[in-house]
Amino acid sequence: MAPLPQSLLVLLFLLVSLAAALQRTFEIDYDGSCFRKDGKPFRYISGSIHYSRVPRFYWKDRLLKMKMAGLDAIQTYVPWNFHEPEPEKYQFTGDQDIEAFLQTANDLGLLVVLRAGPYICAEWDMGGLPAWLLERESIVLRSSDADYLAAVDKWMSVFLPKMKPFLYQNGGPIITVQVENEYGSYFTCDYNYLRYLENLFRQHLGDEVVLFTTDGAGIGLLKCGTLQGLYATVDFGPGTNVTAAFLSQRYSEPRGPLVNSEFYTGWLDHWGQRHSVVSTQAIVKTLNEMLAFGANVNMYMFIGGTNFGYWNGANSPYAPQPTSYDYDAPLSEAGDLTDKYFAIRDVIGKYKRIPEGPIPPTTPKYAYGQIALEKLNTVADLLNTLCQGGPIKSVYPLNFVQVKQYFGFVLYRTTLPKNYTVPTPLSTFLNGVRDRAYVTIDGVPQGVLERDKNLFLNITGKAGAALDLLVENLGRVNFGRYNNDFKGLVSNVTLGNDTLKNWLIFPLDIDSLVIHGLQNRYPALRRPSSTAPLAPAFYVGSFLIPSGIPDLPQDTFIRFPGWTKGQIWINGFNLGRYWPARGPQVTLFVPRHILTTSAPNNVTVLELESPLNGAGKYIVEFVDTPVLNATLGFDTESFKLLSKE
Ligand SMILES: *[C@@H]1O[C@H](CO)[C@@H](O)[C@H](O)[C@H]1NC(C)=O
Ligand SMILES: *[C@@H]1O[C@H](CO)[C@@H](O)[C@H](O)[C@H]1NC(C)=O
Ligand SMILES: *[C@@H]1O[C@H](CO)[C@@H](O)[C@H](O)[C@H]1NC(C)=O
Ligand SMILES: *[C@@H]1O[C@H](CO)[C@@H](O)[C@H](O)[C@H]1NC(C)=O
Ligand SMILES: *[C@@H]1O[C@H](CO)[C@@H](O)[C@H](O)[C@H]1NC(C)=O
Ligand SMILES: *[C@@H]1O[C@H](CO)[C@@H](O)[C@H](O)[C@H]1NC(C)=O
Ligand SMILES: *[C@@H]1O[C@H](CO)[C@@H](O)[C@H](O)[C@H]1NC(C)=O
Repeated sequence: MAPLPQSLLVLLFLLVSLAAALQRTFEIDYDGSCFRKDGKPFRYISGSIHYSRVPRFYWKDRLLKMKMAGLDAIQTYVPWNFHEPEPEKYQFTGDQDIEAFLQTANDLGLLVVLRAGPYICAEWDMGGLPAWLLERESIVLRSSDADYLAAVDKWMSVFLPKMKPFLYQNGGPIITVQVENEYGSYFTCDYNYLRYLENLFRQHLGDEVVLFTTDGAGIGLLKCGTLQGLYATVDFGPGTNVTAAFLSQRYSEPRGPLVNSEFYTGWLDHWGQRHSVVSTQAIVKTLNEMLAFGANVNMYMFIGGTNFGYWNGANSPYAPQPTSYDYDAPLSEAGDLTDKYFAIRDVIGKYKRIPEGPIPPTTPKYAYGQIALEKLNTVADLLNTLCQGGPIKSVYPLNFVQVKQYFGFVLYRTTLPKNYTVPTPLSTFLNGVRDRAYVTIDGVPQGVLERDKNLFLNITGKAGAALDLLVENLGRVNFGRYNNDFKGLVSNVTLGNDTLKNWLIFPLDIDSLVIHGLQNRYPALRRPSSTAPLAPAFYVGSFLIPSGIPDLPQDTFIRFPGWTKGQIWINGFNLGRYWPARGPQVTLFVPRHILTTSAPNNVTVLELESPLNGAGKYIVEFVDTPVLNATLGFDTESFKLLSKE
């Protein structure tokens, strides 16, 4: 027989590969109470990593460390607002390139548990829901509300088709897809909504994919969170009675695999509250119990990462989360290997073979030292530049969504209608500052109004004086009933008995100005104005990476000795909020990919209160060790630790 021509061989090869791909299956075996992968019983050990909290530059490093801990799978949330920041403006490139993230996981041989939303909680702004949903003020989020469903439908019809090729049965890494999140903890209890999502997901992903839900391990919580057709899983942390917790899953799923979708390896933080730490011993004990049960376990978080920019969420009563999402997880915020990592790896090693080969080492950190910043102008001085469209005029205040600004800062300005010679309380109806207002009169700072905390401020001033409230959005509530969290001034402002009217509202595009080089494009701004020293203002400086030292730039952490609260950018990258005056976070993580050796690295700081470093010097310092657990500045009132249940 003549040899087959080359092209036929290629065709044959393709057909064989195709047949192999067609054999890929991932299913629930109800009788065997397990998953089945390619027909064989399968149990996964997984860890959470949010691609939105780790720079793309480090995806592979973190995923490989997870692989080398013995994980079969990773789990990630998909934050809708990260990809659709404005209606129908979709972002899927750079750090938002979820397909590249999934591909990287796949290349490393990691499976993926995809938590597709639309709502995710996640200590992420508004639980991942885009703030523009609030344009109709009465919208009922996470329900069959027609406007809400229309937006969900539109988003999912863009997003889910991108996921389809990544499903396991289509040759990709995604084994299961979560619908909604802890819906049983929400007040709407709308089965039609869950049913709508199920149909929508099936329509885009097909009938084979395993869809599931996650709720707290309690029958009361599972009641409103589950639906026939969506496999019900539970979440619980160390110290829980594992038998009892899985019995509650059995209430919804009498048969099928046991799954803990969120086994807490640590816990979240809030500004002004003690840093959360969870003991390795407790984690190891419960993890071991669950694995001995044959349960599927996802560790939340395996690496927490960072809330860069303005992405942190908040709990209620209002308590925003800090920039670091370290979570006391087995891999630190900066991806460092910890004792917890190795202890977990040892437990996993009792149940399966850990991959051989080196674990990627902890990345080196470098202390670049102190740099002095120069003061530029105040925010008020720069209004024309920061708000190129000019202010919006309104008799009464408008909120952020009404002026189509979703994050950051809006400045509200009016004039005093008369002389206020005795200290007169400035306030808002019903706690209407969301979330902090930095108050000045003719540029002179008067103090801060803060949601739930500081509701009155005494001021004096002359008729016609400019009253400015620079209002900061500190992050939208991500959990519970109140995540329709409007920002800005959401009610009227009163001064004594007078309701203040005739506002100029300046939505501020600070990030664009910083990205385009505050100090380069506007050299004239280098002259600080004569206004009072403590009004919200910009500070800039730069530093060179030392030459002659190999492997620089390296990761680092930045400290703000003497500074109070603000936002920081390096080379235009928004690193997040700093607030050492409140803590517990003191340093911010600076990943090396934003630094360069080929030019000065430019630091821009927006300090909202006081940068009093003494002697008129404005110093920031790069150090090689993070501090996330300072004990200064804690709220005296005791917040009850927010439980997921
Ligand atoms: C754990 O829960 C199971 C089922 O409810 C119960 O039988 C057992 O006594 C509990 N164990 C402990 C240590 O409380
Ligand atoms: C406010 O006080 C100034 C004196 O400080 C006076 O000249 C002016 O008429 C007063 N304005 C009003 C509106 O009462
Ligand atoms: C405002 O001043 C009044 C007296 O004029 C005083 O009773 C009140 O405590 C002050 N309030 C604040 C918040 O300082
Ligand atoms: C302010 O008060 C006016 C008049 O009572 C009212 O019409 C308006 O809705 C209020 N605005 C806000 C933002 O509360
Ligand atoms: C506000 O009005 C009340 C009642 O009319 C009056 O007693 C009070 O003095 C007023 N307060 C101010 C600050 O003008
Ligand atoms: C920092 O700013 C300087 C001008 O002040 C510019 O030459 C340099 O390229 C900037 N550095 C980076 C990394 O963009
Ligand atoms: C903060 O964390 C560091 C590093 O883990 C630890 O050495 C230190 O004791 C902690 N400090 C406080 C106040 O908890």
